[in-house]
Amino acid sequence: MKTILVLNGPNLNMLGLRQPDVYGHETLADVEALCRRTGDESGLEIEFQQTNHEGQMIDWIHHARNRVAGIVINPGAWTHTSVAIHDALIAAEVPVIEVHISNVHRREHFRHHSYVSLVAKAVLAGLGTHGYQLAIEHLAHLNR
Ligand code: DQA
Repeated sequence: MKTILVLNGPNLNMLGLRQPDVYGHETLADVEALCRRTGDESGLEIEFQQTNHEGQMIDWIHHARNRVAGIVINPGAWTHTSVAIHDALIAAEVPVIEVHISNVHRREHFRHHSYVSLVAKAVLAGLGTHGYQLAIEHLAHLNR
């Protein structure tokens, strides 16, 4: 069975608690359950991770190379700051879908630029946690 790596960056462990007006009331455990359900329905194995440490995120991205069929990543604030994650995603050489729960383009100006979008096959923003499901379904479609 093919594997999809779902990666979550800083502060996403606080989902459901932080800024529910922006990010909603679902927790990261709810998002993980949704991703696993979507994986089961799509015939894909899901690996689900979250970290607040950039080096850890980069190590997981490197480990994906030649191993997984795709990466779904919500890089959190690293979206707007991290050339290192951009470079790691290029090195991984697997299709990447960038997901944001909120519509970053309706928010502060500093959220309008993404280093990750430059290397992503697609970007989903503003669909809430449904964006994760759609990203996994699209990777399933590509791998059919
Ligand atoms: C986010 C948007 C980012 O700008 C922010 O730093 C996050 C979450 C989102 O899912 O909407 O932490 O990636």
